[in-house]
Amino acid sequence: MKERLEKIAEEVRKQIEAADAPEKLNEVRVKFLGKKGELTAVLKGMKDVVPEERPKVGQLVNETREAIEAMLEETKQKMDAAIRREQLKAEVIDVTLPSKKNTVGHRHPNTIALEEVENIFVGMGYEVMEGPEIEYDEYNFEKLNIPADHPAKDEQDTFYINQDIVLRTQTSPVQARAMEQGNLPIRMISPGRVFRSDEVDATHSPSFHQVEGLVIDKNISFSDLKGTLDVFAKQLFGEETKTKFRPHHFPFTEPSAEVDVTCFKCGGSGCRFCKGSGWIEILGCGMVHPHVLEMCGIDPKEYTGFAFGVGLERIALLKYEIDDMRLLYENDIRFLKQF
Ligand code: DAH
Repeated sequence: MKERLEKIAEEVRKQIEAADAPEKLNEVRVKFLGKKGELTAVLKGMKDVVPEERPKVGQLVNETREAIEAMLEETKQKMDAAIRREQLKAEVIDVTLPSKKNTVGHRHPNTIALEEVENIFVGMGYEVMEGPEIEYDEYNFEKLNIPADHPAKDEQDTFYINQDIVLRTQTSPVQARAMEQGNLPIRMISPGRVFRSDEVDATHSPSFHQVEGLVIDKNISFSDLKGTLDVFAKQLFGEETKTKFRPHHFPFTEPSAEVDVTCFKCGGSGCRFCKGSGWIEILGCGMVHPHVLEMCGIDPKEYTGFAFGVGLERIALLKYEIDDMRLLYENDIRFLKQF
């Protein structure tokens, strides 16, 4: 009996050695330890063993069984470890390989120009306000002293949503909204998109951007306006920049002016850039019309103020010497990356 068991154990060892996959091990297990397995057969044959021998034989069978199980288990663990090692080797990641380059976007010249304008005014204590792009005719025109029959209304080529609602043609309606809120004094700028029914060309687009400015307080005078915009021009275009206020007309300001800056290309001597004049126009401004103050709930005897409106694209085109506005709307990354 002992010999038979030893032979079985030896046979198992051989077959385990020959096994090259976990499934084969399982086959060995079934073959020897399974219901119809060889060791199980030995157990079944116990009835033929004389009773006094049975405990000894039983112990031997059990020992053999445990030995076989231990062998199987040990080999299985070795196999699993080898398989895992192979897997890890196959999945190894070379962290030293150069990564794929992601193409990233770039800030738009309009955005860069706007941030610069905002920084200048926020530095002077202004707050940034926003207003709706779809605006009441009342705010876009009426409260800005542009009544229904005013020629300025035609000049602005308005997109109408209906009789009372328009796509705002300017950021000036935000002035009216700020004044109506009534938190005086006011020192605000309001950047945003505006719309006019214009054909697209090198200097026009049906949608562009403006930055509105408004200051309302007691004793605000034209010299405050001049000083503020002079500082603005110097910070935006360089310390050596000079400003010139030319009389102009806007319905919502009185007096009104357009502001020119000395050409930053030739310094004022005249070049192709400034069409020989030495000056470049950058914005419109003026003292808020008393009638506008009144319509927006502010007493013009107590308060005065100034306002200005800058075309953002115009600033971007000038600052970055871009000669066609359409380039700003194409969003070609090769173009945008230059700024
Ligand atoms: N809203 C004017 C325009 O679109 C620009 C402007 C001029 C705004 C003078 C102002 C201002 O606030 O005072 O042409």
